Amino acid sequence: MTPQETQKDVGGAVWIGPKQYAVWPEGQKIKGRGDNVLAMTQFEDAPEFHPSLISRLMELDADPAFKKTRSVSTSGTKIHFMESWGCPEADLLNARAQAFYKKAFKQPSAAVHIAWANLSRHGDYIMPHSHPDSTASVVYCVDTGDPNPRDPLDGLLAIVDARYDACCQTDEGFMTTPFIPKMTPGAMIIFPSKLVHCVNPYAGQRPRITFSWDINTEPVGKPRLPEELRES
Ligand SMILES: [Fe+2]
Repeated sequence: MTPQETQKDVGGAVWIGPKQYAVWPEGQKIKGRGDNVLAMTQFEDAPEFHPSLISRLMELDADPAFKKTRSVSTSGTKIHFMESWGCPEADLLNARAQAFYKKAFKQPSAAVHIAWANLSRHGDYIMPHSHPDSTASVVYCVDTGDPNPRDPLDGLLAIVDARYDACCQTDEGFMTTPFIPKMTPGAMIIFPSKLVHCVNPYAGQRPRITFSWDINTEPVGKPRLPEELRES
């Protein structure tokens, strides 16, 4: 499935080795306000397939056949085109992100505009930004990397937008309080793509690994790829 295709039905399951994983497990709960605002869910089966997922990501990171972007001003290493990885673990996460969009944003279909894995290493960060070509952005935590006892906010995703009322806890319309969701391995968050967000600098050594998706209800044309990945 290409990023441009619309997935009308994200029911079903994905095989990873000898085991079948439900795209949306029975009883999977969504926390949050919903209604196109912000929601989270936690996949309890994540520890079962994260080791093989991380192993495949390390292979991709080392394989020159898979293009990556690396820019200290915007992020660490990004690996796009997960449908070409031959990685059922990523296929499962891709289906889950779309299912989450449909459920949390109450939409009849989901079209991934662009998606990628983020590998953050020592010193990497993502400056504040939003995603103008999509309705919702989804982030999934694979590995939080090394903890930093001197800075508990090290490497964390933060939403910093005055249009999100949780960020304005002292004066309406004034962004005074970054909203920092608790993202442990297996956690997936969805929020409107217009909300400004960033990732704090990461000081650890072990790669901190997340996935990101920009999703619409219907396809909206070609994604704007990072410079290094553009074909023309
Ligand atoms: Fe982003």
